[in-house]
Amino acid sequence: MTLRLGDLAPNFQAETTEGKIDFYEYLGDGWGVLFSHPADYTPVCTTELGTVAKLKDEFAKRNTKVMALSVDGLESHKGWISDINETQQTEVNFPIIADEDKKISQLYDMIHPNSNENFTVRSVFVIGNDKKIKLIITYPASTGRNFDELLRVIDSLQLTANYSVATPANWKKGEDVVIAPAIKNEDIPTKFPKGHKVIKPYLRTTPQPDL
Ligand code: BEZ
Repeated sequence: MTLRLGDLAPNFQAETTEGKIDFYEYLGDGWGVLFSHPADYTPVCTTELGTVAKLKDEFAKRNTKVMALSVDGLESHKGWISDINETQQTEVNFPIIADEDKKISQLYDMIHPNSNENFTVRSVFVIGNDKKIKLIITYPASTGRNFDELLRVIDSLQLTANYSVATPANWKKGEDVVIAPAIKNEDIPTKFPKGHKVIKPYLRTTPQPDL
């Protein structure tokens, strides 16, 4: 199934390392990250899952729950978790889906046959608290993801969901943001009382409004 930004993230029930989980129940009213990796007991995936485990507090601050997926089985996942904990000096603290029948991988289009017919690529879906898909990124098996970038994007997504702003290139939390083109100049002072700059009529900035 091809999923696009703004689509409702399909719900599913899955066997995971933390038991049988209904995805929507797991997310509750918060945000979610669903990410796939190609296979257990592989080097890049080992570092990725360890990195995500270490970022648990950062995801929690953003009211975001994470869930991983690969098409390996539950016993394989459980054995591999010990290796991740040992080698990455952490404790895997989120569920990993055992998608042996590939139902969820197919639902989320995580198998790209021209890359590999059998394994999931490194897909990332960020799901908003309205259960809609806010971000889709796909990396090849050979490139480990930058999860700091994922947190940065979640900061932008959550900010722009609540304010009429957008975030410029390389923006980081705390930096000035761009005022949405739909906002009329005369409405800026009341909407953005911290002040603003008009660099061009179409490029207006303001301090991050929620800080
Ligand atoms: C890895 O996680 O290291 C990996 C997995 C599949 C292909 C290449 C690398």
